[in-house]
Amino acid sequence: MRRVGIVGVGEYLPKKVLTNADLEKMVQTSDEWITTRTGIKQRRLAAKDEASSDLAIKAGRRALEDARLNPKDLELIIVATITPDMHFPSTACFVQANLGAKKAVCFDVSAACAGFVYALTIAQQFISRGVYKNALIIGAEVLSTITDWEDRNTCVLFGDGAGAAVVAEVKSGGGLSTYLGSDGTKADLLMIPGGGSRNPSTHETINKRLHYLKMQGNEVFKIAVKIMTEAAREALKQADLECSDVDLVIPHQANIRIIMAMAKKLDLPPERIYLNIEKYGNVSSASTAIALCEAVKTGRIKKGDIVLLDAFGSGLVWGACVIKW
Ligand code: ACO
Repeated sequence: MRRVGIVGVGEYLPKKVLTNADLEKMVQTSDEWITTRTGIKQRRLAAKDEASSDLAIKAGRRALEDARLNPKDLELIIVATITPDMHFPSTACFVQANLGAKKAVCFDVSAACAGFVYALTIAQQFISRGVYKNALIIGAEVLSTITDWEDRNTCVLFGDGAGAAVVAEVKSGGGLSTYLGSDGTKADLLMIPGGGSRNPSTHETINKRLHYLKMQGNEVFKIAVKIMTEAAREALKQADLECSDVDLVIPHQANIRIIMAMAKKLDLPPERIYLNIEKYGNVSSASTAIALCEAVKTGRIKKGDIVLLDAFGSGLVWGACVIKW
């Protein structure tokens, strides 16, 4: 089996900023409530003509440049998203066409906020077995299109953006373990009920606002703390490591209170946890990808560091990966 690691990272955040003060003018909320309950101060919004693939392409290009890989040599593209450009074709195919990555096999992964960890795991499998030499994995979301801007319970939480990584064989370090899980019995806690084959889009589904994200936040919160803690422990156990060996945790950025509750259970000091929720909110599959990219670019991750990615989302699905940088 080949040793597989991340050899390039990139991110793209749309320019438009929506602050908590802006939201105060849209729904009955306050900067104080949003900040103390979630840790979010602002989020980015895609322009009207920006779809997920537009964000994904920009992040993907940056990751390819960082890895010094010509798109023509790319063998696999996986886009993790819950806001694809269309039901089909896959967003990965749009990315491939724009990059001119003619050789690459393309598909999307639907694993909500754990999508980037799922994509990384899939890419690692292909490359470690020698099926493909490299992969571009991208988490990209335009969550503003599935957000109900009249629902204060959810509209303050989400943002748009994309993060990408090039995965390839490495001589040292690389992925040490990966742990994924799913529980479909709790699907009703977090979903978009309308617009699919169960409740196709009609005037009625639109009037009932079923094409927007619905979440039982409080229930999801409790499960998220438990599952992210367990996933971290399991991935570390498989890598034969302790929490104290981890240099930096990149958690999914859904709520600072979820992250800090998990950190407490794992006995992890705050300085070993990467946070950017304040700037971007929850960007679902793109959250861990953007955070990883920022952590690398700002020197928070250095060669030889042990990095733990840990994510959780609708499905329910979850995943954690340990990587030696
Ligand atoms: N502004 C002001 N008040 C609000 C707002 C708001 N934006 N939203 C809710 N409230 C009110 C509620 O109406 C409620 O009022 P009430 O007590 O009078 O009924 C009160 O605040 C408390 O509401 P809760 O829902 O209990 O608040 P909680 O502390 O649980 O925070 C939150 C809500 C932030 C949604 C939290 O539950 C959370 O982060 N959940 C997890 C989200 C998550 O991890 N999602 C998974 C990934 S997303 C994905 O997969 C796409």
